[in-house]
Amino acid sequence: MRAAVVTEFGTPPTFREFAEPRPRTEDEVVVDVLAAGLHPRVRSQAGGEHYTGRGELPLVPGIDGVGRAPDGTLRYFVLPDTSLGSMAERTVVDLRRSVVLPEDADPITVAAGMNPAMSAWIALRRRIGFAAGQDVLVLGATGNAGRLAVQVAKHLGAGRVIAAGRDPEKLAGVHADDALTFGELAKAADVDVVLDYVWGPPTTGALRTIVTERADRARPLTWVEIGSVAGPSIELPSAALRAARLQLVGSGQGSVPTKDIVAELRALVPEIESFRIDARPVPLQDVGPAWRDTRSTQRVVVTP
Ligand SMILES: NC(=O)c1ccc[n+]([C@@H]2O[C@H](COP(=O)([O-])OP(=O)(O)OC[C@H]3O[C@@H](n4cnc5c(N)ncnc54)[C@H](OP(=O)(O)O)[C@@H]3O)[C@@H](O)[C@H]2O)c1
Repeated sequence: MRAAVVTEFGTPPTFREFAEPRPRTEDEVVVDVLAAGLHPRVRSQAGGEHYTGRGELPLVPGIDGVGRAPDGTLRYFVLPDTSLGSMAERTVVDLRRSVVLPEDADPITVAAGMNPAMSAWIALRRRIGFAAGQDVLVLGATGNAGRLAVQVAKHLGAGRVIAAGRDPEKLAGVHADDALTFGELAKAADVDVVLDYVWGPPTTGALRTIVTERADRARPLTWVEIGSVAGPSIELPSAALRAARLQLVGSGQGSVPTKDIVAELRALVPEIESFRIDARPVPLQDVGPAWRDTRSTQRVVVTP
């Protein structure tokens, strides 16, 4: 079959022949892939950088997708850590890690949206005791996951949702109750929950501002680390943990058990097409050029 194939970590995949996939257990089937998203996690997998990586080459990238199963059902699936990913004509799917989609679901929208939408959905439903009416700050709201976090927080009953980012022009296109650049975060000091996609220096600054500018420092503040586009570490002054009722948690593969992630995928699937999702379909043979284009704000979806 034909697939996107990475032969060296850190270089874009090329379109070429790859061995036919074969199921290894009773729960696995071979699906015809219809759409696979090029998420940041896919790039770090193909860069050999993700914390779940196994270091195996050659590698077909892709961590999830939409495909047609042998029984004719249309399914959204997530893959385990594997060197046979979803950017191929066919891949092996464990049916327990898949969700049947309505026949009229749009494979491109679903493949583009599930990974970024799931990040806030799971953080709010599985990692913290989020309650309707709480105010949420999305730090890094201009990316695909941030834009969906704003919508997911509203959908799950948030009170005020504030979008923060570094680019005022892009922030204007995020439909939040308020939009702030990183320098204006004092105005968001009284939020209940922070969904953090940036980490690194912007988070160091944001933590300092929010902790010190809070009107009531005894009011609980739950900070959820979800992404790290601005850096892998922060500087955390000890005073930040003493001077405010700050709870710092992370949300992702590992801190949320796989069975809970799969349960939330089932809950999210019926809602996914109600969100605004910006997708750009690209034929599988054009995966190389699409991979190199990192400026677009649309989520690239490879269509075999
Ligand atoms: N833990 C989870 O469950 C989970 C799930 C999905 C995604 N994630 C993570 O969430 C993060 C965002 O994913 P995504 O799908 O939204 O990616 P994306 O669509 O590529 O968006 C990336 C965003 O990061 C911003 N950015 C990049 N470098 C920055 C910097 N130095 N300072 C501030 N902002 C910066 C960009 O801002 P501009 O608009 O200003 O260029 C862009 O809006 C990634 O780290 C991803 O791995 C985690």
